[in-house]
Amino acid sequence: MNAMSERIGVVTGGAGFIGSHMVDLLLARGYRVRVIDSLVGGREANLAHHGGNPKLAFERRDRQSIAQYEHHGGGCRGRQSHRADFVDLRQ
Ligand SMILES: NC(=O)c1ccc[n+]([C@@H]2O[C@H](COP(=O)([O-])OP(=O)(O)OC[C@H]3O[C@@H](n4cnc5c(N)ncnc54)[C@H](O)[C@@H]3O)[C@@H](O)[C@H]2O)c1
Repeated sequence: MNAMSERIGVVTGGAGFIGSHMVDLLLARGYRVRVIDSLVGGREANLAHHGGNPKLAFERRDRQSIAQYEHHGGGCRGRQSHRADFVDLRQ
């Protein structure tokens, strides 16, 4: 697969329980995965079993710092975006 056709997944909250499983799934399906997680609740250890995988990139940052167009893939084909960082609506 060349760079133009490579599928990319963006998982906010990807160091959390649900998000890290989403990362596992996307990597298993051949995606390049970008995780954005502030580590307010999750742990990088949840992704440790992917250590050294060049298809996984981790960024410690708040998802709200991501421009809207970027969060939704900028309209690029082949991208998927997943959120696993939902806040408690009762707060
Ligand atoms: N675990 C379950 O069984 C379950 C079931 C139903 C619903 N949910 C809901 O799904 C969501 C995720 O659950 P979980 O168990 O994976 O929680 P989790 O705390 O393990 O994961 C959430 C992740 O999001 C990150 N995060 C939170 N706010 C962020 C922000 N602003 N920017 C970047 N990263 C941020 C946290 O650091 C954490 O890694 C929660 O809202 C939870 O209530 C979970």
